Amino acid sequence: MARLRTALPVLVLAAVGTGWLVFAVGSAWGALVLVTHAALGTALLVGATVVLGAGRFERSAVPQVALAVALITTSILGLAHAIAGVESIGGRAVLVTHIELGMLSLVIMIWWALRNRSRESVVDSSRRALLHPARLVGLALLIRGGTEGLVRALSLPGSERRRTGSYPRGSFDPGSMPMTMWLRDERPDIDVADWTLTVRGPTTSRSWTYEELAALNDGIRATLDCTSGWFATQDWGGVLLDRLVPDTEGGRSLVVRSATGYQRRFPIDDVGHLMLATRVGGEPLRSGHGHPLRLVAPNRRGFWWVKWVVEIEIEDRPWWWQSPFPLR
Ligand code: HEM
Repeated sequence: MARLRTALPVLVLAAVGTGWLVFAVGSAWGALVLVTHAALGTALLVGATVVLGAGRFERSAVPQVALAVALITTSILGLAHAIAGVESIGGRAVLVTHIELGMLSLVIMIWWALRNRSRESVVDSSRRALLHPARLVGLALLIRGGTEGLVRALSLPGSERRRTGSYPRGSFDPGSMPMTMWLRDERPDIDVADWTLTVRGPTTSRSWTYEELAALNDGIRATLDCTSGWFATQDWGGVLLDRLVPDTEGGRSLVVRSATGYQRRFPIDDVGHLMLATRVGGEPLRSGHGHPLRLVAPNRRGFWWVKWVVEIEIEDRPWWWQSPFPLR
């Protein structure tokens, strides 16, 4: 149990950390992060169930019981989403509740760790053997690997998931692609007659009207993968960013700003991989999808795909000079 007392905080921290990484990583690395998160989450589910199964709890064990219940609930929600494709319960997004409970587990874990520094365990030796962290994670990988095999063999909803845990919604059908907002961002009221895009380079600055941009015909097929748990692959039409930002000399990053004040900063080298879309699936963008102009950022999660773009600016700051996740 001493090993678990030391390992549990590490397992919980790792589960929470990999959870946020699943959010952050849109590239192929995402699959490895998700498997690691799944193994840690399943290990905590087994560990917490064993601890809870021990029974015989005194009052002093309240934090331990609370932690076990929080971890079990968090993991069951994660697995329900991953295996059965349960996206909402009682009208509330399962992933959102999962994350909230995951963060709550972290708080309870700190309470447990502080209260538990010197106390003896309530779990008997046979269960103790099972709770060895490495054994637990190894067992969890076996369990989760086995269930994933079943998910695919039986074509359960989870077999449609992407490497980020997201489900397909509206691929090649823009009309049924969800319109989700990040945190407190709101759809602005934009009249394209008054709207322009301003591009500020290191030495030059230029504004573009909607008509000028809508006349440009670059196109890429890219997958928008939203952290709320859906993804859609579309053919996007518009203009490649490096056509509008010819000169990046001396710049280290480029900032893409929305009419709402929402923004993301990209490494300057990304200028060749980004596109500003005015159309999707051959149709003008809908307002909820970012009309008149939306950023297409392949291999990045949806919160990087800035909507309602009004400004691009080349700056001398490193790309990571921003909060990991937008705060508005
Ligand atoms: C103690 C904390 C946490 C535990 C025990 C936990 C556990 C789990 C488990 C067991 C799964 C199912 C994965 C699978 O089998 O494929 C899961 C999925 C997931 N978790 Fe967590 N998680 C925790 C915290 C978080 C946090 C803080 C976040 C995000 C910020 C997060 C994001 C996700 C996502 C996006 C999925 C993917 C869902 C899917 O594959 O369908 N988790 N989690």
